[in-house]
Amino acid sequence: MNAVAIDTAVATPEASRYAKIVEVSKRIRWDIERDVIRGRHFNFDNKFLPDGLSRLDRSSLADAGERRLMSQIQGRTYANIFGLVERFINAKVLELSEDHWFGAQSALGALVRFSDEELKHQVLFRRIEALIRAAMPAGYRHAADPNAVAHAVLGKSTWAVLALTCHIELFTQAHYRESIEPDDSLSELYKDVFLFHWREESQHAILDEMEWRRIDALLSPAECDAAVGDLIALVGAVDGILQAQAQADVQYFREILPRALTAAEQDILESETLSAYGSRKFRNRLVPVLRPGGRLVAPPQEPAAAAATARLRAQASPLRVTRGARLRLSCAQGNRAGVARSGECA
Ligand SMILES: [Fe+2]
Ligand SMILES: [Fe+2]
Repeated sequence: MNAVAIDTAVATPEASRYAKIVEVSKRIRWDIERDVIRGRHFNFDNKFLPDGLSRLDRSSLADAGERRLMSQIQGRTYANIFGLVERFINAKVLELSEDHWFGAQSALGALVRFSDEELKHQVLFRRIEALIRAAMPAGYRHAADPNAVAHAVLGKSTWAVLALTCHIELFTQAHYRESIEPDDSLSELYKDVFLFHWREESQHAILDEMEWRRIDALLSPAECDAAVGDLIALVGAVDGILQAQAQADVQYFREILPRALTAAEQDILESETLSAYGSRKFRNRLVPVLRPGGRLVAPPQEPAAAAATARLRAQASPLRVTRGARLRLSCAQGNRAGVARSGECA
């Protein structure tokens, strides 16, 4: 009788990378109440969102207290937006896990942990929203419903959803390392929320890349063209959500501010907030993900790439799908975003 192979795929380099991610995920695992909240509340004498992300150091608001209040509103939104996107990210991760049911069990394990962590993160973001809601005046509005957004996003190709997800999880890393971690003027609890979130997101960004590469290798040129179009549509949809939330946040600020905001002040503040949340910054951060030298847009697809570029320009976007560009993420890119420092890069 032939021997039964318990896990024939386990010896591949890819399987080893998935296994390393599982190992790190287990080692850094944290608990919301025990490790993050620790019985604390937010200190409203401090800012929440750092100037590096809010750009409030350049704001038209002259009063430091008003800038601090705006940073708290924007920080609340920043956390809520993560809770929102993690709804569709988790659904896609669960869907992808089916591809690994009968393959490397380390890959299945890595995606199961990814999903479990995103569920926990959503609980964390709901927990801190409740803490902030209890301490701030009523009237804050969420511009989008997580389930409605998830249904719309998941209607697009897996390649495009992974491209968007990888981008989001890479900028999570960059935001923490470049703006949140070095700012000593922030609420201690707010900083800790994103410290702990960053630690687990480091593994997610690596998994996003691995899954994106795997799916990319399965696409025909025509499917790749369609997927690029889907990604452009998704970026446009994210823009819409951010713009609506920026307007809602300025309106809330106006309602809870002890003084009356003039119409001119409100217009300027809306413009500044749109810019801070914004589409331009969001799109700019996607550009490094689309690297020259590969197959995202191969020579036969250049007409489609040109059309995609025109569509992006029509959206007044700086994002361009470069001729000859391809999906080329690397662990080195993750390292620049802070992965290497915590040793997660396999
Ligand atoms: Fe997360
Ligand atoms: Fe994540």
